[in-house]
Amino acid sequence: MPKPLLAGNWKLHCLSAEAAALAGEIAKGCEDLQDRQVMVAPTFTSLAAVAGVLRGSKVALGAQDVYWEDTGAFTGEVSAPMLVDAGCSFVIVGHSERREYFEETDYTVAKKIAASYRSGLSQILCVGETLDQREAGETMKVIEKQLRHGIVELPAPGLESLVVAYEPVWAIGTGRTATPEQAEEVHARLREILCTLMDPDKADAVRILYGGSVKPDNVDELMACPNVNGALVGGASLKPDDFLRIVHYEES
Ligand code: 13P
Repeated sequence: MPKPLLAGNWKLHCLSAEAAALAGEIAKGCEDLQDRQVMVAPTFTSLAAVAGVLRGSKVALGAQDVYWEDTGAFTGEVSAPMLVDAGCSFVIVGHSERREYFEETDYTVAKKIAASYRSGLSQILCVGETLDQREAGETMKVIEKQLRHGIVELPAPGLESLVVAYEPVWAIGTGRTATPEQAEEVHARLREILCTLMDPDKADAVRILYGGSVKPDNVDELMACPNVNGALVGGASLKPDDFLRIVHYEES
């Protein structure tokens, strides 16, 4: 079984002093953790402040996006080596908000995933269907395309550091969580696809996170699903008590 990963995506929230304070509370509440990994992803401008607070703690630092060139004339972008320099060990790529509002495509996702791997970052590749796609019976087709296209530029060994996050768009920020059965059905299919791409033992070790309205009162049942190896948490990761309860989910 892979070590579960509980990750907080802070999206466009917190000035750096607030982010540092939030990270401090989370780090303190994670001191006892043994069998699971925790990551938080603040905005770019808070990375340095949060890295300082997390140094020596059990909580890893991640970024919410990355550009695929290392350096050059690309005004406004932040590269993978810069994220490593800022203290990151993870990066979220292809979040549905980036696909919806910032013209992220499978093509740009693939470039970002490969660039992150070259710099030694663990890449969290987000996939997930919209409500229309689910209602049209297209969920499996959509997530398969996003996964396969997202890794086309990734060399085979890179699959071992990959983390996949299944985030149904209709569950993000809506309070409407996927049921454990809905989550497990998609996670099991993602695992099957990974098994066609790599040694099945290694595919079993790839962490597949669920994201979309994960809260203290639904995390235990989601984490009880055999193919759910963690959570990618938005809103609840901004509330220390809620996020710490999620991190300390109870095993059934
Ligand atoms: P919520 O937990 O707020 O639904 O957000 C999920 C998400 O988008 C995490 O990346």
